[in-house]
Amino acid sequence: MVERLIIDHVGHRGDGVSLSSGEALYVPYTLAGETVEAAVIPGHPDRRKLLAVETPSGERIAPFCPHFGVCGGCAIQHWTPEPYQQWKRNIVVETLRAAKVECEVAPLIDAHGAGRRRATFHARMGTHDILRVGFAAANSHEIVPIDRCPILDPALDGALEAAWALAEALKPTGKPLDIQATATSNGLDIDIRGSGPLPPPRIAALSLVAEKHRLARLTRHGELVLMRNPPVVTMGTAQVTLPPGSFLQATVQGEETLAQLVIERVGKAKHVADLFCGVGPFALRLASRGRVIAMDNDAGSIAALQKAAGTPGLKPIRAEARDLFRRPLMPPELRDLDAVVFDPPRQGAQAQAKQLAASKVPVIVAVSCNVTTFARDVRMLIDGGYTLETVVPVDQFRHTPHVELVARLVR
Ligand SMILES: C[S@@+](CC[C@H](N)C(=O)[O-])C[C@H]1O[C@@H](n2cnc3c(N)ncnc32)[C@H](O)[C@@H]1O
Repeated sequence: MVERLIIDHVGHRGDGVSLSSGEALYVPYTLAGETVEAAVIPGHPDRRKLLAVETPSGERIAPFCPHFGVCGGCAIQHWTPEPYQQWKRNIVVETLRAAKVECEVAPLIDAHGAGRRRATFHARMGTHDILRVGFAAANSHEIVPIDRCPILDPALDGALEAAWALAEALKPTGKPLDIQATATSNGLDIDIRGSGPLPPPRIAALSLVAEKHRLARLTRHGELVLMRNPPVVTMGTAQVTLPPGSFLQATVQGEETLAQLVIERVGKAKHVADLFCGVGPFALRLASRGRVIAMDNDAGSIAALQKAAGTPGLKPIRAEARDLFRRPLMPPELRDLDAVVFDPPRQGAQAQAKQLAASKVPVIVAVSCNVTTFARDVRMLIDGGYTLETVVPVDQFRHTPHVELVARLVR
């Protein structure tokens, strides 16, 4: 069934929201004020498929990627930058307001830079035994085969070709694959997941692809297949050799922006904890000024950080693998710290925030990739006596609804 709908506003996931039928209906790729033709999607009563834009918004622009609208990677390429940036900042404002967290929200800082330095391509066998390598379609497990992605950092050039070749080499297994490519100073680092155990001829075939595509390193489920050069990234003055599949901020500029905001907010603190530290983009920069305790549950990340911590000129970094959901740092362990930085995964840091709320740490810097769990965690800190200062939203996932935040809390 086809309907004509008027779009009221763009929702927090980037879909246009129509209220004209009395209930909220979500139509992707539409903008406020537009009249659109949309089709009912069986099984999804509140979603519609965009068929045509009858009266386009003056803020509509042509998307720059030929896959836009089919590939699920980007939600918004059809909107002029200024209202897009206001919309993204508003997601933060409205989510914090709904959680009754009162604070200033700074203008959005763009941190797309040269583009994404990491991408996970999916490889699946399609109908008629045809291999598909690309990204998942919007709201679907279907793979949209792609040959290029304009939001990737040019340092990832060659990654898609390598992913196609690796998927081709593993075609006989028939398994669905996730192929994560990361741009490093020494070239592409690729980790393949999903293949399961492989016989020696398949490993040999993968090695050949790695050689041909001049990959820095190829791993399978984190196990080394071939290393031509160590996959290294620069963080502050340190060189970090990435563990396979470890967390890394999506863009170089995103990492630098977040680190700069963290350093400014930590200020003159001489003894700092960096919790959920990953491979240490904050710790390695903070250590040029003071001593750092760094913790993360990923042992590979901690080992990489321990190695990089030996960089001449850095103050001591004590890096330790610890599950901070199960074993958060307790008030006695927090006693001697001048500042704590925490940057948890999307689930947030509920257990750690509870202990921080009971501590006397004078400065806490909260970094987050999820405004909902951020609001929950800072609520606990505010209730524990901390004052939340201006929240700064950072846009390293341009064209998507994802937004990062940095904020300082003091007592
Ligand atoms: C958003 S990343 C931030 C990493 C780092 N701050 C950065 O900017 O690269 C979240 C980190 O939390 C870690 N993590 C996830 N669950 C954890 C847990 N239960 N305990 C400790 N660390 C955890 C992940 O390994 C990941 O490195």
